[in-house]
Amino acid sequence: MYLTREEEKVLDGEYGEGQRLAMKILCALGDFFEAERLISVQSAHVSGVSYKTGGDALISTLEKFAGSGAKTSILTTLNPGGVDLERWRDLRVDENFLEKQKKIISLYAEMGVLPTCSCTPYEVGNIPAEGVHVAFAESSAVTLVNSYFKAKTNRESGISALASAVTGKTPLYGLHLDENRHPTVKVSVHAPLKSPTHYGVLGYLLGKTLKNSIPLIQSRHTLSLTAAKQLSAAIAASGAVSLYYWERDHIKSPTIEETVEIDDHQLNEVFNSFSLTDKPDLIVLGCPHYSIYELKMVSEMLNGKVSKRLSFWVFTSRQVKLLGERMGFVQKIEKAGGKVLCDTCPIVAPLKGFKTMLTDSVKAAHYAPSMNKVSSALLPIEECVKTALEA
Ligand code: F3S
Repeated sequence: MYLTREEEKVLDGEYGEGQRLAMKILCALGDFFEAERLISVQSAHVSGVSYKTGGDALISTLEKFAGSGAKTSILTTLNPGGVDLERWRDLRVDENFLEKQKKIISLYAEMGVLPTCSCTPYEVGNIPAEGVHVAFAESSAVTLVNSYFKAKTNRESGISALASAVTGKTPLYGLHLDENRHPTVKVSVHAPLKSPTHYGVLGYLLGKTLKNSIPLIQSRHTLSLTAAKQLSAAIAASGAVSLYYWERDHIKSPTIEETVEIDDHQLNEVFNSFSLTDKPDLIVLGCPHYSIYELKMVSEMLNGKVSKRLSFWVFTSRQVKLLGERMGFVQKIEKAGGKVLCDTCPIVAPLKGFKTMLTDSVKAAHYAPSMNKVSSALLPIEECVKTALEA
């Protein structure tokens, strides 16, 4: 990969060990993908935060990085960790887990990464504009910023996103190149998309079928940010789709090789594939993290008391929770018997003592059995709330 004189100096360690290490990672990545050169990125989003998934090896890697003097040079946000730093007892983790988690987050903060601890960086200030190059890890955010905000990022790993955060650069390959961003398959959706969960189910189906193609999705429905969050999270969870187009008009594209038809029956099959034999003992909302608008919706739907038979947890960012407290949404949810949790997520937190989970997120339903050893069911938000009140 071609390096400018200045980039060579970084690689030679003239700007310190932290910059050198980061540049070394990007050069290895660029060489592997045969990138021609590096380009500047405007912001980064780093994953690899939970002590549950990263363990002590993550702490050692971050100590090495932070100890080398690495500092971010661009706006950089952070994915969720393994526990709510204030309500850790609710998640039944021990103090050792909490301390290790705090250590990980403080190492990131020492390097200048903003400890937002959320998978929705675009809701806490890291909002890439159309056409701008960024380096995002966290597959749901990658697909959303490529498709909904029309910015450009590859699906970065935690470490490559951190290297980009330090240097402000990324190798020019993959989805940073316009020629790799053309749709390759048309998807005609004939099913009614009645809720954000239905968009997630559509994404889940497409991810499984299309693997890493770029779909041009045609539907009579519009795509709100709430729906796009579910679609993006799901399409990247069941497959490796990092970019899709959502078009209501019937655009002709010369790069489209095939057409896929989706009907109601196929969506119902996905819903039915997630079903419980027992009643849920946990209801989880907020994967991806809920926005202030979604928090408001839940608080308005919760008219009554959550059944004592189950736990009702809503995950969001700390920033959104603070606003939700100001508006009284959080108090309303908690008065009804629910909990609003931050800094973590239903998949990277250890869910202890639960057997069966109901959620409105197909991504959470997909990962819960393998990551948290709970069986999962999927329903739209209204039905999750109704179950919470009636169970
Ligand atoms: Fe976010 Fe965790 Fe879901 S990182 S997208 S809440 S699995």
